[in-house]
Amino acid sequence: MSQAWPVETEAGLGPDDGDVRDVLDRQTEVLELIARAVPLREVLTEILTSLEHLMDGARCSVLLLDREHRTLHHGAAPSLPADYVAAIDGLAIGDGAGSCGTAAALNLPVVVTDVMTDPRWADYRAVAVAAGLRSCWSTPIDGRNGLPVGTFAVYHPRPHAPTPREQLLVDRFTHLASVAIGHARLLEERRARLEAETARRTAEELSHAKSELLAAVGHEARTPIQAIVGFAELLGTMDLDEARRREALDHIGAAAGHVMDLLSDVLDLSRLEAGALPLALEPVGVRDVVDGVFGLLSSRADQREFSLEHHLGDEVVLADHRRLRQVFLNLVTNAIRHGDVGGRVVVRACSAEAPDTLLVTVDDNGPGIPPELLARIFTPFARGAARPGRTPTAAADEGAQEESIGLGLALAHGLVGAMGGDLEVGRSGPAGTSMRLTLPRADPLPGPG
Ligand SMILES: Nc1ncnc2c1ncn2[C@@H]1O[C@H](COP(=O)(O)OP(=O)(O)OP(=O)(O)O)[C@@H](O)[C@H]1O
Ligand SMILES: [Mg+2]
Repeated sequence: MSQAWPVETEAGLGPDDGDVRDVLDRQTEVLELIARAVPLREVLTEILTSLEHLMDGARCSVLLLDREHRTLHHGAAPSLPADYVAAIDGLAIGDGAGSCGTAAALNLPVVVTDVMTDPRWADYRAVAVAAGLRSCWSTPIDGRNGLPVGTFAVYHPRPHAPTPREQLLVDRFTHLASVAIGHARLLEERRARLEAETARRTAEELSHAKSELLAAVGHEARTPIQAIVGFAELLGTMDLDEARRREALDHIGAAAGHVMDLLSDVLDLSRLEAGALPLALEPVGVRDVVDGVFGLLSSRADQREFSLEHHLGDEVVLADHRRLRQVFLNLVTNAIRHGDVGGRVVVRACSAEAPDTLLVTVDDNGPGIPPELLARIFTPFARGAARPGRTPTAAADEGAQEESIGLGLALAHGLVGAMGGDLEVGRSGPAGTSMRLTLPRADPLPGPG
């Protein structure tokens, strides 16, 4: 058993009130540090320097016990020579392992008044003498369950036995060390519990999100696959005229294309999430990419009487050419697909806040992203319901293709992020939508010739 907290408290302290006040002030300071959750080493250092201040000529240290390996490790020792601290670090406890090793092994205070004569110091005498240490009293620091969590040592440069005042001070400060260590361990346990809980919750959420994604993919693929199966049966069982046969084949082609798009988007998304999407970053001229996208979408834009415009100069960004085209293709397709007939898309380059990034906006004058979607617009399968007055039939009559999956913006957002940029909704409402794309700028491309 280590020493108990003395009940007769101040009785052993110095002859004047100043001594008592000094001790109380020091204790209060330490308790304030503990309450502020200051790192343990700092609290222990404060405890030890306080005791050294109150006890002339003493040098103090705290060693922490690794109970599993039965070794003592440096906790704090503000005034002991570094060589001595290093030599003692990792000391195996046991009867005869100096004052601290013995005190921790027996869970009893060990007072060695002269290390030169005490047999328990036989193996450590040389290190102690080299450090100018002659006496060492060590007290086990109580932990929960009454087992020691470390030792509190007081050294003197000459052979020395503790006076009653010194004994009382050592008991008090050892108790303070016990409070500090207990508090630090509680905080550590609470932090570890919180981290484990957060990790568990994240894993649960991830697994839930994965199941949802899988279910959504399955659901999404079922309709076109059913169409493929149905039209294939039709082709096989009936004697169709050429026009009906062509129509059935077109339906099969469109449905198969839809499933392929779905699968390649889902594959890209999962690769992005795993950080495993290969990207070839190089200087890319934005105007070329946008011109290419406008070209690809020109017949769809004509069908819906859309005008496509850009105001781009020689802006060059660092990006993956194919993926950047995919991003613009998504954004411009959205404006055409989700906007009203006769709409307008304008792509502009603007100066971004940071000089080394380029801001490109894609604006339309459509009806805006449905407000209920805005908060989760970049999550997979967030897509708007068919708008009133624009049924799939009406849309088909307008020539629009209603193959909305709800992966385009999630993918575009992930792709831009992977290229070191950002994609945001600048504004969206009845007056239209403005998507903001920022990307790192690159040096201008060499001119032709
Ligand atoms: N420019 C826009 N104007 C109006 N609504 C938009 C616009 N862009 C996106 N939206 C809305 O946001 C939803 C999600 O867009 P997203 O591009 O992710 O999917 P999608 O276009 O429906 O399908 P796809 O996976 O083929 O791109 C759309 O379904 C639409 O409701
Ligand atoms: Mg889209």
